Amino acid sequence: MSIEKLGEWLQSSKNTVIVTGAGMSTESGIPDFRSVSGWWNHIDPRTVATTEALTENYALFHEFYKLRIEALDKAAPHEGHSILADWEQRGIVSLVATQNVDGFHQLAGSQNVEELHGSIRSIRCHRCQQAAFIDDFKRKASCPQCGGTLRPNVVLFGESLPQKSWHIVMEAIKRAELVLVIGTSLEVYPVNQLPMMTKGKTVYINLDTSQYTVPFDLVIEGKIKEVLQQIPI
Ligand code: OAD
Repeated sequence: MSIEKLGEWLQSSKNTVIVTGAGMSTESGIPDFRSVSGWWNHIDPRTVATTEALTENYALFHEFYKLRIEALDKAAPHEGHSILADWEQRGIVSLVATQNVDGFHQLAGSQNVEELHGSIRSIRCHRCQQAAFIDDFKRKASCPQCGGTLRPNVVLFGESLPQKSWHIVMEAIKRAELVLVIGTSLEVYPVNQLPMMTKGKTVYINLDTSQYTVPFDLVIEGKIKEVLQQIPI
């Protein structure tokens, strides 16, 4: 019933924005953060995902991101990512705003993607901001330009989101007739504010829908791939 309703809304909306989180990639074998098997149930985010971690415990910081970068070599986008890319190509979706740093939406063919928490696939120097090679990061080299510390282009806790992307997403959300939020616990600010910034309809697809506090017009509990496969459009 709710899946059919979402199908109708997708078809009638002239401007649909998708917001995704780590749940989007678990079916590709990439852990999320707050599920039982998620990263933050095994490691304290303060020790690996903050600027303090980077400057004060680079060994652990480096190990964590190297592991996550290498995990991507063995994983690929799944059919759910491809369905979203197909929707974009058919004019059903205008933008994907993601908290994910894995680049799977683009690999699956989505072109209009804003990476609100950056990308783990590109590297820069934390000190001079110069772009660097991923292999240099993997072998724990220093910045070839200034000798500073190399890091992935992800947003760490305490850092601000890429302002251009954030602005693009906010404007798109304000104009959207439908916002579809997929695979995120909505625990992290400011992305968790996005569903409340639209005048359009809002839909939430997630495995666990017991914790969210944002009011949605439609909530679909289930696995992303299965839900997306069933939408009749
Ligand atoms: P979370 O791990 O907080 O939430 C992922 C959500 O996806 C959970 O509510 C799961 O129940 C759900 N989920 C997992 N697999 C699913 C599946 N196959 N189908 C449907 N739902 C599924 O991840 P995010 O909300 O993305 O930021 O986390 C937001 C940010 O917190 C991340 O970008 C990261 C993290 O700290 C930084 O590191 C800055």
